[in-house]
Amino acid sequence: MNEYLLQAGLAQTTLHPLNLRVRHAAGSIITLEDGRELIDFISGIGVSSFGHGNPQITQALKEQIDLHLHVMVYGEMRQASQDRAAKLLLSLLPDDLDTVYFVNSGAEAVDGALKLARSSTGRQKIMAVDGGYHGNTFGALTVSSNKARKAPFEPLIPGVEFLIWNDVQALDAIDHTFAAVIVETVQGDAGIRVPDPEWLSSLRRKCNETGTLLILDEIQCGMGRTGKPFAFEHFGIEPDVLCLGKALGGGLPMGAFVSSKSRMKQFANAPALSHITTFGGHPLPCASAAAALQLLKDLDFQHTERLALRFEQTMSEHDLVEEVRRIGAYIAIELPTAEAVNFCVHHALSEGLLIYFFLSTPCSFRVAPPLTMDEATWLRATDILSQTLDACASSMR
Ligand SMILES: Cc1ncc(COP(=O)(O)O)c(C=O)c1O
Repeated sequence: MNEYLLQAGLAQTTLHPLNLRVRHAAGSIITLEDGRELIDFISGIGVSSFGHGNPQITQALKEQIDLHLHVMVYGEMRQASQDRAAKLLLSLLPDDLDTVYFVNSGAEAVDGALKLARSSTGRQKIMAVDGGYHGNTFGALTVSSNKARKAPFEPLIPGVEFLIWNDVQALDAIDHTFAAVIVETVQGDAGIRVPDPEWLSSLRRKCNETGTLLILDEIQCGMGRTGKPFAFEHFGIEPDVLCLGKALGGGLPMGAFVSSKSRMKQFANAPALSHITTFGGHPLPCASAAAALQLLKDLDFQHTERLALRFEQTMSEHDLVEEVRRIGAYIAIELPTAEAVNFCVHHALSEGLLIYFFLSTPCSFRVAPPLTMDEATWLRATDILSQTLDACASSMR
């Protein structure tokens, strides 16, 4: 048990935090106060996708700081940083996704999307999907699947039901009473579960037939993580509402939900000010997001795919590895036990590599490196991980 944060007066989220003190982070390397260097093989859980201290992002932030910070609550004053971020984001999305609402986090984007679905359809029920993770506000927690994480906070919001992942028959439960179905395009916390394309297209069809909105949560799997700018591009479908966060802010706190002008107008007049936020669309995250979106546009997806594929092959060949699930640089490695995962996370850390757990998938660990990581660093990380798996296998004998 490690209470070092509590002792410093800071709320703690587990009794076993990593307890590392950070001095500096640049590119794919985090430098600790004691001088040790760690390869960041998880991008701060899918955030630092364009590398730590990316010069374009840092420059955009410096320029914005010199202009202005907060001037007025979101939606009252025109701010150039918001215009830039919106223009770049919408230029990467299908025509029907033409309006963005910037908020402060992923969970807030999910709550905003759920509110938009209820108010624009006049319906109350929401369908979610088993294995889904959408965040920790009351709305986002309700549509998340892990029951143990929800139990202490009940009652949650009413009217939410769950579908079985990848089950085409189960889609029959969606009818005209549902405002929306919310699903991660690729499930993250479920251990990188890539959907059957047939299931996703049947889900899209069912939503069309019943006038139910399809909300895709790409807070973690969007922004280039899966090898395309947005994960839905792999599956030939488009959402009615798209939720983004994490890497969108280029390292600053930011979320967004994107939909059509006609739907989003609800918030302006039915009633007026139906969804408001003080800091959503803050100029610093918007300036940073505009830089991150430009980096996304310019990403070399083939570079990352080649390195991620080679990594997958090396990992799959190890006797201890039961399965590698991967799409782009969004990767889960499954081991025989949760103890093996725990061993590997700590052993890799002691060797200078940061990998990490999933919340709800204890026998797998996650790998999601910065999309700008160079080949030599990928190879060094792969070596450390191979040695870590060897050490784990010997410890289990
Ligand atoms: C798929 C998904 N949705 C929503 C969230 C919640 O985002 P935040 O932690 O910014 O509230 C997360 C966070 O991990 C996520 O992975």
